[in-house]
Amino acid sequence: MELLKKRILKDGIVIKNRILKVDSFLNHQMDIELFNEIGKEFKNRFKHKNITKILTIEASGIGIACIAAQHFNNVPVIFAKKYSATNLDKDAYESEVYSFTKEESYKIRVSKKYINSGDRILIIDDFLASGSAALGLIDIIRQAGAEVCGIGIVIEKYFQGGRKMIEECGVYLESLAIIEDMKDNRLIFK
Ligand code: G4P
Repeated sequence: MELLKKRILKDGIVIKNRILKVDSFLNHQMDIELFNEIGKEFKNRFKHKNITKILTIEASGIGIACIAAQHFNNVPVIFAKKYSATNLDKDAYESEVYSFTKEESYKIRVSKKYINSGDRILIIDDFLASGSAALGLIDIIRQAGAEVCGIGIVIEKYFQGGRKMIEECGVYLESLAIIEDMKDNRLIFK
């Protein structure tokens, strides 16, 4: 997606050849006009999949998923919770996720009320790195007997291997900007 790539090149900051900071439009301040274009592009790429729900993970995926949902007939957006809270149903699907960035494992949870066996679910997230979060979401959808119709990612860091993990699960992946590598604190797009 050209508009997104241009924005990354204009405002993204590469840290230690590993992290792309995009706080000014994606992860802290959110550019809603850009989010709307991102939502349209996801619709374009998944238009024949008859999506009934979108699943994401807190926190940064939520804004993008909500705007994207408006391009999918306002399907409900569910977000997996990372922190156990008293207001979360006890009856929840759970999956273990290992974060390579934080070097720790955490559990993600979705109430059983919100995913049903007939659902056709699109996973949306802001970043794909090693793919552990995406694998956790796939696991939860499959526990519920629903169908994973694809994964839509805004920025994929190809060099961290997440794509391979997802494809090994037999899930279709579309990323709007793919960073093949980071060298000398510069980005190389695929
Ligand atoms: P993985 O899920 O693909 O395996 O990634 P990893 O554990 O390594 O990433 C942990 C968190 O860091 C995720 O956010 C992920 O979106 C984010 N992340 C990974 N690489 C980058 C990057 O280059 N730039 C930015 N801005 N974020 C990156 P999270 O913990 O779920 O936090 P949240 O921001 O969604 O709350």
